[in-house]
Amino acid sequence: ADINLQEIHDFMISIAKKAGEMITSAVPTTGTAGSKKNSVDLVTETDQAVEKLISTSLRSKYPSFAFMGEETYQPGDRLTASPTFIVDPIDGTTNFVHRYSYVSISLGFSLDLVPTIGVVYNPFTSTLYSAIKGHGAYLNQTTKLPLTPPTNIDGLGACLVAVEWGSDRSGNDFAVKSKTFSRLAATKENGGGMVHGLRSFGSAALNLCAVAEGGLDLYWEAGCWAWDVCAGWVILSEAGGIMVDANPGNWEPRIDERRYFAVRAGEGQKGVVDEFWGLVEGRFEVG
Ligand code: IPD
Repeated sequence: ADINLQEIHDFMISIAKKAGEMITSAVPTTGTAGSKKNSVDLVTETDQAVEKLISTSLRSKYPSFAFMGEETYQPGDRLTASPTFIVDPIDGTTNFVHRYSYVSISLGFSLDLVPTIGVVYNPFTSTLYSAIKGHGAYLNQTTKLPLTPPTNIDGLGACLVAVEWGSDRSGNDFAVKSKTFSRLAATKENGGGMVHGLRSFGSAALNLCAVAEGGLDLYWEAGCWAWDVCAGWVILSEAGGIMVDANPGNWEPRIDERRYFAVRAGEGQKGVVDEFWGLVEGRFEVG
């Protein structure tokens, strides 16, 4: 049967808004939920309730499509080429728990493992980003992204860069991150990139939308999951940005490989990626 992407997109937006009401009216409590792997990998009862609302709605309207959600994921679950909803009910759970309003619902849809529809909604600021592959990316369904026409990306040193610590705070991948962060910040004389600024806001989906918008130039992370990035990836690409691998050398990252590096639209994209890759200290093992 034909897949009506516009209809799916519109339905995803209506669900994101309902989920948003649930999130803004909830009091974050970990109750029986608590943390998943360690003391900083938080999950609240709201994450679980919101995922239930989303999966029930999506499954009842599109029973033949697959569903992958952060809260119901089981180790070993694999994304397939089937039409699949890829959902994070609350991206930025730590922010939600602390009542810092950089929080979103991230609803993605993939076809043949290609991110195809993206809806990212911050219910605290009522900011909605959405895109359908091939049809552009929008803020609040009306304003085309990026917000200003792309300009030249004038070398890594002129970039505002987002990175995230994530919840894995030990081992090789943590070392790669922390060494690279300090190298990015360091002066050129010290072998660094001396970037304009390094930011860690705590929501992968909103970081990708900020790159799509043009506010952030770059966002680099390893360790987050397909549900953190599927929706934002579509929005980024439709705004003219590119997604490459967080490990140097791979211009064609996969949705299920957990290493992502987003670059905003503009001339000089490839040069800035090469410059950044040249500063990455080691290689991520996550994949
Ligand atoms: C997390 C956020 C965070 C990123 C983590 C993600 P969650 O998602 O996107 O910014 O650094 O890797 O897991 O757990 O809040 O849905």
